[in-house]
Amino acid sequence: MKCFFGIIGLVLVTAAVQVRADEGMWLPNRVGKMRLKDMQAKGFRLNASDLYDPGSPSLKDAVVRFGGGCTGEIVSPEGLVLTNHHCGYDYIQSHSSVKNDLLTYGFWAMNREEELPNPGLTVTLLVRMEDVTKKSLKGVTPGMDEAQRQERIRTNNARITEKAVAGTHYKATVEPFYYGNRYFLFVTEVFEDVRLVGAPPSSIGKFGGDTDNWMWPRHTGDFSVFRIYADKDNKPAPYSKDNVPYRPKRFLSVSTRGAEEGDFTLVYGFPGRTTEYVTSDAVDYLLNRGNPHKIALRTLRLNIMAEEQARDAATRIKYASKHASVANAWKKWQGESKGIHRMKTLDRKLEQERRFEAWASRRSRYREVLPTLRKLYAELADYAFARDYYVEAFGAVELARFAGNISKPLDGESDSARLQRIRRGGETFYKNYSDAIDRKTAVAMIREYVRNVPVRFHPQLFREYESRYGSIEAGIKRMFDESALTTRARFDNLLQDAPGRMAAALANDPAVKFYEAFTDLYKNAIGKEYARLTAEINVQYRTYVRGLMEMERGRAFYPDANLTLRVAYGKVAGYEPADAVYYEPFSTLEGIMEKDNPEIYDYDVPEKLRELYRTKNYGRWETGGTVPVGFIATNHTTGGNSGSPVLNGDGELLGLNFDRTWESTMSDVQYDPTVCRNIAVDIRYVLFVIEKVAEAGYLLDEMDIR
Ligand code: ARG
Ligand code: GLU
Repeated sequence: MKCFFGIIGLVLVTAAVQVRADEGMWLPNRVGKMRLKDMQAKGFRLNASDLYDPGSPSLKDAVVRFGGGCTGEIVSPEGLVLTNHHCGYDYIQSHSSVKNDLLTYGFWAMNREEELPNPGLTVTLLVRMEDVTKKSLKGVTPGMDEAQRQERIRTNNARITEKAVAGTHYKATVEPFYYGNRYFLFVTEVFEDVRLVGAPPSSIGKFGGDTDNWMWPRHTGDFSVFRIYADKDNKPAPYSKDNVPYRPKRFLSVSTRGAEEGDFTLVYGFPGRTTEYVTSDAVDYLLNRGNPHKIALRTLRLNIMAEEQARDAATRIKYASKHASVANAWKKWQGESKGIHRMKTLDRKLEQERRFEAWASRRSRYREVLPTLRKLYAELADYAFARDYYVEAFGAVELARFAGNISKPLDGESDSARLQRIRRGGETFYKNYSDAIDRKTAVAMIREYVRNVPVRFHPQLFREYESRYGSIEAGIKRMFDESALTTRARFDNLLQDAPGRMAAALANDPAVKFYEAFTDLYKNAIGKEYARLTAEINVQYRTYVRGLMEMERGRAFYPDANLTLRVAYGKVAGYEPADAVYYEPFSTLEGIMEKDNPEIYDYDVPEKLRELYRTKNYGRWETGGTVPVGFIATNHTTGGNSGSPVLNGDGELLGLNFDRTWESTMSDVQYDPTVCRNIAVDIRYVLFVIEKVAEAGYLLDEMDIR
């Protein structure tokens, strides 16, 4: 009998795990026995301590947070780091000029002296992490109101972090998980001297551009190479020419064997933000109000940009990066909405809520939580909507944003420091500014604002425009006609003024007025309520998520992404994007050549690569008569996972994560194993490009290539 139950128990447990196959981003120090078993059954040949070990070197020591929002990995004993091209983009751009255009032509340091420093760029390593829930919640009692509770936690956490870094150069934070049901301490080491070693030309690193972005099949060589430098004691230090390459505790070995369909893959990185446990109310807002309006606003902006870009080559270049970043989220949201529709996420959420309410009806602690959330979401909707318009419509007016940046001195800023800052701000602003695009955009954005946002969220300035100039549009036109910031020439004139006169001119400038009208409105009429309601909603989620965990005891709950280190495991797999269509999981150099078209900017293959293809000069990177380029897998990833290592079952590097497919961007709200796929560039393509295209093969000598 015992044996019988044992088997049933086991079947249930495996079933529970299998239903949730491949979903989840797990904390590396709490993988747990069950999950490890599941991973090993699927092809992971290592142990939990190989992933994370606070005492001795483990894979986590080779995974870094790159800058603010990307991931990278250390691949040599001398601190060599790989990340995506789009993660290094700003730094590559900062070293570029018309004469020396690294973005277009690529860059390879041929020795250490040629590696380029990047002020402001940091690389963060995790020293250790720890569940500190008990200590964070010490002294928190059920009788406390939310403000008292937060204050208590804040003081507790301050003590925890202070103790954690005492006597070291480390930094520490405590982060909430599951809406404040748990707290974890993260102790980190932040390196500030990070140098650019190499980057392929954009025609490889950004191949396919916005046309292919968020899509499979994909052929982008989305990688760049950096190196961490440290002082003589191997500790972080500001840039100095005396610094030496960092000697990591652990670096990744590279596998040249590749992966087959069905093979185990593990993504180790820093996912930014997901909201997997939100209720139907949140999904409803996203699907029916937020996304459609945000997408429509960006469509207008992109059309205006594209029209002007087509008119004039200089404008095309100036707005290339702006167009790309506006298009990135625009395209993502569309895929997300499509996916949510297709997977009937709203219905699934409602169904779960019905089950929860039935369960909670017998538990006083949980009975009120869903009705309360519903009420709060109903209150929030208009504020969230006004906020979306504030960010997307007002935020699109470049002139106003620039005016806002320079309109006031910073705290304690001297006249001369301010002048310096304004001058520098102008340098960057006018370099990539088109007055024509901005005017048209401002008119289009504000027209939509007026049309869609409730009148109580309109700035007073609209009434002033109407009474003074006859209409809001006329007021906007006047702003552009009269502002001292509309053109570079006027701006230069303004800088000639004495500090007092310049300050006065700025204070009365119509663009500054426009900026202030919106920011004041936001502060007083939108932001405060929005913040209050979201805080209350999060308090309710703390209860709701705890209830869900009690209700579904068999289910493994992973915490939402919050830029902390996670592992996501899955397998290489194709998928069906639509009826009768199947996508293979691998792409190759053949696909690059199929797309090749010198007439299309996004598909203009560099001559060097064409030549290598013609002569089949693939060297050791040849596989089945071609070179592997990209692959997709079922790993659960999100923004921030860019540059993350994709590892095989032995913890060796197979590729670099850089995107998700269009059908899977919904995984931020709900993951679905049948369509959700992350996209990686095959490490063999990366090495092929370094060795054969860039002829910087010497870099491979310091790697452990298996
Ligand atoms: N979609 C990827 C991400 O979210 C890549 C973006 C950069 N590439 C581009 N073509 N805009 O970051
Ligand atoms: N490209 C994204 C990033 O920058 C990753 C794609 C995704 O959202 O999954 O992190």
